Amino acid sequence: MSRLRIALLIVSMPHFAFAAEGTLNGEQLYANNCASCHGVNLEGQENWQTPGDDGVLPAPPHDETGHTWHHGDDLLFSYTKLGGAEFLKQSGVTEFASGMPAFDDLLEDAEIIAILDYIKSTWPENIQDNQSERSKTKDQ
Ligand code: HEC
Repeated sequence: MSRLRIALLIVSMPHFAFAAEGTLNGEQLYANNCASCHGVNLEGQENWQTPGDDGVLPAPPHDETGHTWHHGDDLLFSYTKLGGAEFLKQSGVTEFASGMPAFDDLLEDAEIIAILDYIKSTWPENIQDNQSERSKTKDQ
């Protein structure tokens, strides 16, 4: 290796380390914050379409069998940041008992986005395309 190459390598190393550090790990963040309810493999809780005795729904799957991909990015972000109760209240729905907690005190916006990006990355390509089209519309 030429001296110039070695010098270039050394000069570029700190940048590389910085980039690695600056990249949020959406999969890890999902495991730490969401998997307890939405499942380690995004499978959701059993009978997720049937409310429990308290009227609260179990957590839905985030994989392609659920309805997460039926929603656009803005909705998914706000639902996670504000939590179900606050999100629905702001949308005019008050009689729904939500089991989805708010994460605005626990996660930075960029962390929420990294988690949602991870969730999306697990979907088949046609579903990713469908959800990305939905994100461009107002009807999220
Ligand atoms: C304490 C359990 C619990 C935890 C933890 C949790 N959720 Fe939820 N989540 C729910 C439930 C229950 C619903 C179903 C809707 C409702 O009750 O409001 C839901 C719904 C959602 C929805 C909207 C519905 C849909 O179509 O997918 C999104 C998006 C969501 N959760 C994302 C997340 C993310 C991202 C995390 C981690 C940062 C997370 N949730 C952590 C319980 C939880």
